Amino acid sequence: VGTLGEADLKGKKVFVRADLNVPLDDAQKITDDTRIRASVPTIKFLLEKGAKVVLASHLGRPKGVTPKYSLKPLVPRLSELLGVDVVMANDCIGEEVEKLAAALPEGGVLLLENVRFYKEEEKNDPEFAKKLASVADLYVNDAFGTAHRAHASTEGVTKFLKPAVAGFLMQKELDYLVGAVANPKKPFAAIVGGSKVSTKIGVIESLLAKVDILILGGGMIYTFYKAQGYAVGKSLVEEDKLELATSLIEKAKAKGVSLLLPTDIVVADKFAPDAESKIVPATAIPDDWMGLDVGPDAIKTFNDALDTTQTIIWNGPMGVFEFEKFAAGTDAIAKKLAELTTSKGVTTIIGGGDSVAAVEKAGLADKMSHISTGGGASLELLEGKPLPGVLALDEA
Ligand code: 3PG
Repeated sequence: VGTLGEADLKGKKVFVRADLNVPLDDAQKITDDTRIRASVPTIKFLLEKGAKVVLASHLGRPKGVTPKYSLKPLVPRLSELLGVDVVMANDCIGEEVEKLAAALPEGGVLLLENVRFYKEEEKNDPEFAKKLASVADLYVNDAFGTAHRAHASTEGVTKFLKPAVAGFLMQKELDYLVGAVANPKKPFAAIVGGSKVSTKIGVIESLLAKVDILILGGGMIYTFYKAQGYAVGKSLVEEDKLELATSLIEKAKAKGVSLLLPTDIVVADKFAPDAESKIVPATAIPDDWMGLDVGPDAIKTFNDALDTTQTIIWNGPMGVFEFEKFAAGTDAIAKKLAELTTSKGVTTIIGGGDSVAAVEKAGLADKMSHISTGGGASLELLEGKPLPGVLALDEA
C-alpha cells in the first residue's frame, strides 16, 4: 500500500475517506469519539503539509437522506481536535460541494454530508464515485472500519484519483492485524469469545494455523461442551455447529495448539442482570441454569497461560459483561492484557467491537498495544480475507 509520506501535498485537494461512524444518542450527542480521534493524525498531517482536506464518511445505515444520520453533530468535536473551523457541506456531491471545495484555503477542512444518503455509495456506482472524486486531486483512505466494504467512497473513487494511498490509521491497523499476526513474537495466544461460534469459525480456523495457545470463552463455549457430551442446562447452544466444534478441537490437537476451554462456569437462573448465580464445573451445568461467564479457576488457568506469551490477540468477551454480575471473566482478561503490555512489553491487539467496548469500560484502552477501530473489518482481516478498500490502494 502506498503511504502518505510519499505524496506531494502542498496546495493539493485531498479526498480523505475516514470512518467517522460514531454512536450518537437521541439528542445527537456523540457517546464515543474514538473513531474521530483515531482519524485526527492523518488529517493534521495533511493540513500541516499545506493540503486542503475534503473529508468524507458514512454514519449508520440510512435509507436515503435521513437527518438523524447527518454528520453535522461531528463538526464541533472535529474542529476542536483539529484546531481549525471545519466547514460542513449540506451534501457530498453537487454544486455547493464544488464551490466550497474550490474555496478551501491551504490547511482548511471541508466535511461532506453522509455519503450513504445516496444509494449509489453502497452500490459502488462509478458515476457517483466520479462525482465524489471530481473535487479533489488525490485520495487518502483512512477508513479501516469500512475497508471491508467495496463502496464508492472506499473503492470506486480510486479509479478516478491517483495516487490513492493509505492514511496513518489504516497503516497502523494493517501493521498490527496483518503484520503482528503474520509474524508474531512467540509464544502467540489468541483469545476468542462472543456469543456464537458461527460468527467466529473463520477467525478460529485462520488463527489455529498461527497461534500456540487458543483460549475460548463467551457464549460459544457451550456448543463445544455439548459436542463433548457435557450437560449444558439452558445455555446457548448452536445445535447445527456441534460437529464443527468437534472438528475445531481436533484441528487444534493436530496442529499442536493448546486449546483452553474454561474449566468452571458462572451460571444464572435467568438471562438478567439480577439473576441468581453460582459457580459450577464446566462439565456439569445443572438443568434450568445457563452459563453467562467463565469461572475463577478458568481465569487463573487463562492468566497462567497468558503469562508465557509475547503476543496476544483478543476478539470477543468471555461472558455477558453488560451485566455487572457476569463481567468478571471479561474484566480479568482486560486487566491481564493491560498488565502484560505495560510490565512485560507483550504485544496486545484488541480486534472487534465488543472486546473493545469491554476494554474501554474497564478504563484500560490506553494500556493495550493496539485497539482496532474496525469490527467487521478486523474480523474479515483476521479470517485472512482481502479487504476491498485496501486492495484498491494496492492497485492504485
Ligand atoms: C462499522 O461500524 O463496522 C463500520 O463503520 C462499517 O459500518 P457498516 O457495517 O454499516 O458497513
